Amino acid sequence: MAGLNLKSRGSKASAASAAAPTLVAAVIDEVTRESVRNVASQLGWTAPVIREGGVSAAAAYVKATGAPNFIIVDVSDSENPVEDLAALLNLCGQPTPVVAIGLVNDIRLYRRLCDVGVSDYLVKPVPEDVLADSLQIANEPPAPPERTDPKRTQLIGLIGARGGVGATSLAVSIAWSIAQQVKVALLDLDLHFGSAALSLDLEPSRGLRELLSHPDRIDSLLIDAAASQAGERLRLLSAEEPLEDTLDLDPDGLLAVVDQLRASTGMVVADIPRGLGPLTRQAVVCADVIGVVTDLSLAGMRDTQRVLAMIAHAHGGAKTMVVANRVGGVAGEIAVRDFERGIGAKIAHSIPYDRAAAVAAAEGAKPLIDVARNPKTVAALRSFAQSFSDGVEAAPQSTSLLKRVLGR
Ligand SMILES: Nc1ncnc2c1ncn2[C@@H]1O[C@H](COP(=O)(O)OP(=O)(O)OP(=O)(O)O)[C@@H](O)[C@H]1O
Ligand SMILES: [Mg+2]
Repeated sequence: MAGLNLKSRGSKASAASAAAPTLVAAVIDEVTRESVRNVASQLGWTAPVIREGGVSAAAAYVKATGAPNFIIVDVSDSENPVEDLAALLNLCGQPTPVVAIGLVNDIRLYRRLCDVGVSDYLVKPVPEDVLADSLQIANEPPAPPERTDPKRTQLIGLIGARGGVGATSLAVSIAWSIAQQVKVALLDLDLHFGSAALSLDLEPSRGLRELLSHPDRIDSLLIDAAASQAGERLRLLSAEEPLEDTLDLDPDGLLAVVDQLRASTGMVVADIPRGLGPLTRQAVVCADVIGVVTDLSLAGMRDTQRVLAMIAHAHGGAKTMVVANRVGGVAGEIAVRDFERGIGAKIAHSIPYDRAAAVAAAEGAKPLIDVARNPKTVAALRSFAQSFSDGVEAAPQSTSLLKRVLGR
């Protein structure tokens, strides 16, 4: 079970509150207290302090014991929750994530609470999965400051060592996850059989083949026209070309498309087909990081090793990482240590086989990472997606949180 990484809040806070319990919750009603108890144990807090009451109970705790690492506080009985929470945060004397819970579903209140430093505001009744999400987000390390010298937008490629190992599911999940922060372009380079559009319930975008065939004509307007919008900050470029067509693509086509996308997005994620055609080779050359997705089968081991060798041979300079997916779901799996010895590399991420998540993703046409509920799957997918977040520009998360408030 994934515990929250409270060290990420900074050593000062941890040291100052070394003697204090990790989580303090002051909640007025028993139903919500029970939810807090369940979520706290789910997330690995061993000794949460859960008190009956609201802001004054939380403040009394802080006065007596010092600031804990995390506060959940009920503001239902507060006449002025903004002022009360500002005072509570002030009392803490150090950056402390505070998730507020209340009865009023009002976006202005939500904004004002965020303005005074509250991490999130949830409206009762609070579903446990929403509470868990909120606590995890609130506990994430603060976004790095805006860079004055932005790095070149990263191209992350995902390639399956074998068919059906989940490369598309992971590409869509990473793209969706990073698009919670910055603009992302998802590029499905399997122009005949790509399934990224299907998995997001979108029409395949039109025009990617033309873009790749005529790089000299590419500009931002053509890219915009060719892309499908898959969310506020997520665009998809994909195709569903007739199977009888042999594609005559310009060798520099992908470079031009990627250059144009790099200029307008914070990250480009490419779902790279295994076909070893020119597009795959170009993608391998211009990617910054390539995730080689595999299961733990013998054939997966053989082909992961071969795909890693192919990437090294392409001399593109991409970093590679091996991602084991559907772990526990394949008959005759090879032990991790033997697998790693066989491929001559470490497995960087291991994502469990999660049938329920796959069914929910297929039924809802949603990214696996969005619908997964099993804490192990959620933790593995998040840690995988987060491993790419170094390469993106920081952006506030307020919109997504705001949507969650409005969405209920
Ligand atoms: N961790 C997982 N647990 C269970 N099922 C998964 C997992 N990851 C992906 N799947 C499921 O595996 C199937 C294949 O996934 P996906 O299409 O992403 O694989 P792929 O490698 O892109 O396949 P292709 O070779 O056809 O491109 C899908 O039904 C998907 O929902
Ligand atoms: Mg695929």
